[in-house]
Amino acid sequence: MPRLSFRSFAAAALGASLFCASSLTAAADGEPQVYPPDSMGARLAACTACHGAQGKAGPDGYYPRIAGKPADYLYNQLRHFRDGRRQYPPMQGLLENLSDDYLKSIAGWFADQHPPYEASARSRASAAALERGKTLAMTGDPSRKVPACAACHGSALTGVLPAIPGLLGVPHDYISSQFGAWTNGLRKASAPDCMADIARRMTPDDISAVAAWLSQQPPGEGLPAASLPAPLPLECGSQATTGGAS
Ligand code: HEC
Ligand code: HEC
Repeated sequence: MPRLSFRSFAAAALGASLFCASSLTAAADGEPQVYPPDSMGARLAACTACHGAQGKAGPDGYYPRIAGKPADYLYNQLRHFRDGRRQYPPMQGLLENLSDDYLKSIAGWFADQHPPYEASARSRASAAALERGKTLAMTGDPSRKVPACAACHGSALTGVLPAIPGLLGVPHDYISSQFGAWTNGLRKASAPDCMADIARRMTPDDISAVAAWLSQQPPGEGLPAASLPAPLPLECGSQATTGGAS
C-alpha cells in the first residue's frame, strides 16, 4: 500500500515519533490537534510541521498555506516536487517514494481543510507601487502582453477549479520567489507553462508591486471559484490537463 511506503520513509527521515500511531500531533505553532490514530491528519504531521496546523501556512512568513487550494493544483505541485519540476529538497525527500494515487489522497485532504487565514503582514511598498500592483492584478498591462491576474485566478483572486490557485493570503516573499523560479526555469508546470511566459514579460519592479498589493488583500473565505466567465487569455497546460499528463 502507498500508505506504508509513506510511513516508512517519513519515519526514517523525520523520526518515528512523528508517525507513530499517536492521535495527538503538535503543529509548529504549538496548537495541539487531535486526529484519530492512523488517520490522514495524523499521518501528515510531517507536512503540517512546516505548513502549519491543517496546512494553514507556516509561522515564518514563507512556508505557503496549502489548506483549501484546488485539489488538482495541489496534486500537480506534489508531482512537480517529486519529479524535480519544482525545487525544495526537504520536501522532495519526503515525496520521492510516493505513488500518484497517494499524492492525490494527500492533495484531497489538504483541499478539504478550511482553517481561518492569518492576518496579512503590513507592506512596506509605496502607495504608487501598490496602485501599480492593483492595476496589474485587475487590468494587466497590454503594452507588455501581461493579462490581468484576475482573468485566470478569478475575479476575487481566490483561484478557480480545477487547478488554478488563489493569490490572496499568500506572503509577498513567496509570490516574488515563485516569479523568480519561473524566470530562471526552476519551477515548471505542464506545457504551455503560461505563468513562466507571464513572469518573463514582467519587470522586477512590476513583480514586486503585484506581490505587495496581493499580499495586502483580505482573502475572506478564500474559496476557489467553480469556473471562469471567459476562456483563459493564454493557454495553460496545468488547467487543461486537470492533473493527468505532466
Ligand atoms: C521542511 C519544511 C517542509 C515540509 C516538511 C513540507 N513542506 Fe511543503 N513546502 C515547503 C516550502 C518552503 C514550500 C515552497 C517551496 C517553494 O519556494 O517553491 C512548500 C511548498 C509546498 C506545496 C506547493 C504550495 C503551492 O501553493 O504551490 C505543497 C502542495 C506542499 N508544499 C505540500 C507538502 C506536503 C503534502 C508535505 C508533507 C508530505 C510537505 N509539503 C512537507 C516546506 C515544507
Ligand atoms: C493565463 C492564465 C494566468 C494568468 C493571466 C496569471 N496566472 Fe498565475 N497561475 C496560472 C496557473 C495555471 C497557475 C498554476 C501553475 C502550476 O500548476 O504550477 C498559476 C500559478 C500562480 C502562482 C503560484 C501560486 C502558488 O501557490 O504557488 C502565482 C504566485 C501566480 N500564479 C501569480 C500570478 C500573478 C501575480 C498574475 C498576474 C500578474 C498571474 N498569476 C496571472 C495562470 C495564470
